[in-house]
Amino acid sequence: MLKGVKISGTGSFLPDRILTNHDLEKMIDTSDEWIKTRTGICERRIADENTATSDLAIEAAKKALKNAHKKPEEVDLIIVATVTPDMIFPSTACFVQRGIGAKHAAAFDISAACSGFIYGLAVGYQFIASGMYDTVLVIGAEVYSRIVDWTDRNTCVLFGDGAGAVVLEPTNKDEGILAIDLETDGNTAELLMVPGGGSRNPICQKTLDHRLNFVKMKGNEVFKFAVNSLVKTTRKVLAKAKLKPEDVDHIVPHQANVRIIDALTKKLKIDPEKAFINIEKYGNTSAASIGIALDELVHSKKLKKGQIIVTNAFGGGLTWGACVIKW
Ligand SMILES: CC(C)(COP(=O)(O)OP(=O)(O)OC[C@H]1O[C@@H](n2cnc3c(N)ncnc32)[C@H](O)[C@@H]1OP(=O)(O)O)[C@@H](O)C(=O)NCCC(=O)NCCS
Repeated sequence: MLKGVKISGTGSFLPDRILTNHDLEKMIDTSDEWIKTRTGICERRIADENTATSDLAIEAAKKALKNAHKKPEEVDLIIVATVTPDMIFPSTACFVQRGIGAKHAAAFDISAACSGFIYGLAVGYQFIASGMYDTVLVIGAEVYSRIVDWTDRNTCVLFGDGAGAVVLEPTNKDEGILAIDLETDGNTAELLMVPGGGSRNPICQKTLDHRLNFVKMKGNEVFKFAVNSLVKTTRKVLAKAKLKPEDVDHIVPHQANVRIIDALTKKLKIDPEKAFINIEKYGNTSAASIGIALDELVHSKKLKKGQIIVTNAFGGGLTWGACVIKW
């Protein structure tokens, strides 16, 4: 018999440095007006040069553990979702394990780009549902500013740095993760990628000259794909949980573009007021966005016990997915 799995604590961490749209106006040919109306973003956080992804992840993890009333030694597994790991290896999760002192925890990273948090939740869920582990930390963390081409106005205005974390634990009550849907279409890989730095195009002068170590994106095509895939996965996951869009109390979407979130709630006929949006403050923090949003929702006091949350994301791969949680 599978065990139930609940979120027992949340935490998030954002670097202090704020980069506003007006700051970007001085760096590239753009405007505050264009960025705000096309994306909903006003500012984003940027980590300082001495900060790596694990540094943000460690702070978010410590807060999530505190909220869950758990000690680091009680953690069985640490999963970090990121596409901006500290290094190729060891995994960022290993640095987090060391940083928080989770000496009994196994640790690994997963790579599903902006869908990373949903994929991480799904993996963490399995370990607890199967009975293998009792306490799993799932963290989404990125220093995306390191892979953004600050000369490319099509992409650099969109992203920011940050980390969000949750603690997963078993439950025998009617609560927690009710359903998960994960999907992938590798045929669309070229729409969003960092082509250089791996085994296909290792770092060399040619890779750097062609700026292959930075994010390349066909924004328009990703936009269309995002709306359709988010609608599809959300309908699917709600059906798995035997719920309807009108049963949803809060929708916590990946924060990529406010117009994508608006299109999603419109197509699903969900009251737009139910969508949690903080993109204006942080931009797209990739795998971190849902963890940060969940933590802010929890602390906003708007979330009540027993309410239904649906969270969904899409990202490079392309990957997408959704999760229904009864709080
Ligand atoms: C990237 C995105 C904001 C662009 O918005 P858009 O309305 O589709 O804009 P377009 O790409 O059609 O570009 C329109 C014009 O604005 C220009 N433009 C692009 N970025 C600009 C910027 N930062 N400032 C000013 N102008 C800009 C383009 O060059 C284009 O000019 P042109 O018509 O003269 O060629 C939007 O497509 C998007 O959000 N896509 C999804 C991306 C995403 O979420 N990626 C992450 C996935 S997790």
